[in-house]
Amino acid sequence: MPENADQLIARAIEIVTENDRGSYTVPTKGLYPYQWNWDSCLTALGQAHFDEARAWAEIETLMAHQWPCGMVPHIIFHEESDSYFPGPDVWRTGRPVPTTGITQPAVAGFAMARLFARAKDRALATRSVRKLLPRISAWHDWFYRTRDPEATGLVAIIHPWESGRDNSIDWDAALARVPTDGLEPFTRQDILHANPDHRPTQAQYDRYIWLVQHFRSLGWDTERLHDASPFRVVDPGFNAILIRACDELANVAEELGEAELAVRNRTYAQRGRAALNSLWNADLGQYLCFDRAISEQVNSPSVGGILTVFAGLPKTRVAHLATRVEELASRCGYLVPSHDPAAAAFEALRYWRGPAWLVVNYLIADGFRLAEHAEMAERIDADSLRLIAESGFAEYYDPITAEPCGGGRFTWTAAMVLEILNGQKADA
Ligand code: GLC
Repeated sequence: MPENADQLIARAIEIVTENDRGSYTVPTKGLYPYQWNWDSCLTALGQAHFDEARAWAEIETLMAHQWPCGMVPHIIFHEESDSYFPGPDVWRTGRPVPTTGITQPAVAGFAMARLFARAKDRALATRSVRKLLPRISAWHDWFYRTRDPEATGLVAIIHPWESGRDNSIDWDAALARVPTDGLEPFTRQDILHANPDHRPTQAQYDRYIWLVQHFRSLGWDTERLHDASPFRVVDPGFNAILIRACDELANVAEELGEAELAVRNRTYAQRGRAALNSLWNADLGQYLCFDRAISEQVNSPSVGGILTVFAGLPKTRVAHLATRVEELASRCGYLVPSHDPAAAAFEALRYWRGPAWLVVNYLIADGFRLAEHAEMAERIDADSLRLIAESGFAEYYDPITAEPCGGGRFTWTAAMVLEILNGQKADA
């Protein structure tokens, strides 16, 4: 018998709670035993529906591990675990609580604003925001200072893992140019926990680790890493998240009388949105990545270019993106595939090279809602719920058959279900 909304909500809460380690939540047991940056912020959105204090704590824990330069690391290794590679002994970033030395999509500003807008406990929310505002704003400063040294308005990622879409086809060509000489031998753990055919290839992994070793040899000086990295790609989806976070942070800062932070973040958002135009591809009707190391557009029709809708875009662009999503819908059973199924490189089961992910669906649906394309937003939400009904709370799904893939009982998938169902209840 299909579960009703209340049963699904109860199950989602159970999953988020079982992965709760007190002040942070792991993405899932085994495969991912630490705190991940954008996972935590998206998880907080779900937690807020049943425990506001816990939701604020999730983001506060993340921001407590911000580096002095402003960067917020992509993983915080709160506890020792031998089930994950590359662990702290590989990164060697020298932080009091070990962290990686790269970052992840800047969801925190958006999550903070959404929590603040919905908070029932206003006093707690205001206290938390007062703490978080300057920290998140310093992260945004860090991005535009170190990852956009020529002030183009757009930031680059220097490692595929920063994108959150780890092994997307978007990175293939740029990653192939990363050398592997001097690579120290290593043993992967991911293929012990998940099907190797669904995971990144060994050639890709070698280059991921080479980049880590290269940055380590430069002492993790984040002011230098951008120029010193052979991998520098401008991802429209990544920028869209940052742009939206700047805008949302500016709104909250205005409300709390933090004029200087508001103006600074608004300026980042406006410049970023204008610069996104340079990534538009009229033939495909979507945005594409730009390989900054060789100054070329990356001809790879991935979901990164659709996620751009989250930035808050002009109506004509949103209309094109809606058409593009329709096109993708005609090629798969469940929106939104992480790569166009019509493209030769598409793989339905391999991680970010085709599968659908609920977090990405959520951000895209939110972007369409912002642009008053409610119908498209509802359609994507409905597909997310169909995936859950078919296959449970998996890490990601085959967009053609709904086969569940990767880790099970996955925190952010459950958190997105809480967002969608509570949103629907609020509208009812
Ligand atoms: C994978 C995903 C990344 C996520 C992490 C933890 O590395 O690609 O986006 O943050 O798992 O769930």
